[in-house]
Amino acid sequence: MRIVRTKDYNDMSRKAANVISAQVILKPDSVLGLATGSTPIGTYKQLAEWNHKGDCDFSEVHTYNLDEYVGLSHDDPQSYHYFMRTNFFDHINIDINNTHVPDGANLNADEVCPAYDKMVADAGYPDLQLLGIGRNGHIGFNEPDDVFSKGTHCVNLTESTIKANSRLFEREEDVPRQAYSMGVQTIMYARMILICASGEDKAQAVHDMILGPVTPRCPASILQLHHHCIVIADEAALSLVPAE
Ligand code: PGA
Repeated sequence: MRIVRTKDYNDMSRKAANVISAQVILKPDSVLGLATGSTPIGTYKQLAEWNHKGDCDFSEVHTYNLDEYVGLSHDDPQSYHYFMRTNFFDHINIDINNTHVPDGANLNADEVCPAYDKMVADAGYPDLQLLGIGRNGHIGFNEPDDVFSKGTHCVNLTESTIKANSRLFEREEDVPRQAYSMGVQTIMYARMILICASGEDKAQAVHDMILGPVTPRCPASILQLHHHCIVIADEAALSLVPAE
């Protein structure tokens, strides 16, 4: 793992945007795996700014998001479809037909999951997969478990994730209890992984990801086995990882 220590959230966002921008400049028809959450918002904003300036062209890029809540329509403001449009896709010159998020409006997991896996496989898997990390070490919605997941699957969210995500909903009861998530195996097929973290509340998860044993109890720890994984995290998130 290559670790890049940044001053703060803005510094993390700018450096992450630089890596993604370089990927798209070197390969204009890149396949990007994208993430939602608070972590990538600054990165998306920076990329949109460079896109406006003409420095980063998304017209040939294809994207596949990690996850989506089950039971929310694409236009629901809490859905990840909506998040991606309002935080990124509406602000760049991407063809919306080239963007993909698991279909949370379809409650039939047997239909949604294999279809999504096939799409990602047919696209040749991401050149670059952007990830955030949960406070419990989850990646996508792959929660701590006895085994690592494989393909896209329906997940029962843990209480800690429901609690963490309730800040974005009016009431905790409104947070969906299930999500479709790309599996850990699919995430590992990406040719490059860029995982970002900011803030002290991520420090334990970031420590366990980098220095802990590789175990499905901390799903992000599997990234130690990836041949090209970059961690970009601020001082607070890296506070439990000694600087070299
Ligand atoms: P966050 O979520 O970016 O909102 O902290 C990250 C995650 O849960 O993967």
